[in-house]
Amino acid sequence: MKFEILTLFPDMFESPFAGSILGKAAEKGLIEIEPHNLRDWAEGRHKVTDDTPYGGGDGMVMKPEPVARALAELKQRSPAARVILMTPQGRTFRQPDAQALSREQGLVFVCGRYEGFDERIRCLVNDEYSIGDFVLTGGELAAMVMIDAVARLLPGVLGSSGSAEVDSFSDGLLEFPHYTRPAEFQGHRVPEVLLSGNHAEIARWRRREQLRRTLQRRPDLLERAPLSDEDRRILEE
Ligand code: ADE
Repeated sequence: MKFEILTLFPDMFESPFAGSILGKAAEKGLIEIEPHNLRDWAEGRHKVTDDTPYGGGDGMVMKPEPVARALAELKQRSPAARVILMTPQGRTFRQPDAQALSREQGLVFVCGRYEGFDERIRCLVNDEYSIGDFVLTGGELAAMVMIDAVARLLPGVLGSSGSAEVDSFSDGLLEFPHYTRPAEFQGHRVPEVLLSGNHAEIARWRRREQLRRTLQRRPDLLERAPLSDEDRRILEE
């Protein structure tokens, strides 16, 4: 899948994924990450991309025309790409969104900067996403977060194909706890069931731990998670 980023700071995307799983996925041609400098679509000698706000006030506002020209060109090259605006006012990005976006042909991220962007930029995009209730200096890091979450779901990107299916949130719950050797560490023993070799028991224990952990740490997730009658019985224990 091709990930394109429209930004005033393309250097931020120089090598953020170098050496990592996504870097290897790019080397293998499974993904392509292409930043574009918004300034390339700005007009005049000074290549201005922002202006003062109508109505007065501090700060500068990102102009709509360079974004419109850039997106028109990018869409001409990749007509099926979905265009996403990064903004703290967007819909909160969650695992089901990552799953849905991983089925797209391509994604173009528009990164807002400065104090804000002209409201009419909203008419140029398909979706608006926020990565959480906090404000970053720009959408670049937020776009990288989304690219990472989407790319790891693509076929072949993760080494062991099962690991994206069992991770936290993929079934609406937090993941069960993991252990490796040694069997005892600083007085904490690995739960006996994991050493038993009884796979049915281990599966039951893991589901129970997922439910308990989600109830303790993120009870809000239980309202949306698909639960069986047995799950509900465990939660009532
Ligand atoms: N730009 C600034 N803050 C952001 C956030 N939390 N999510 C997405 N884009 C942003």
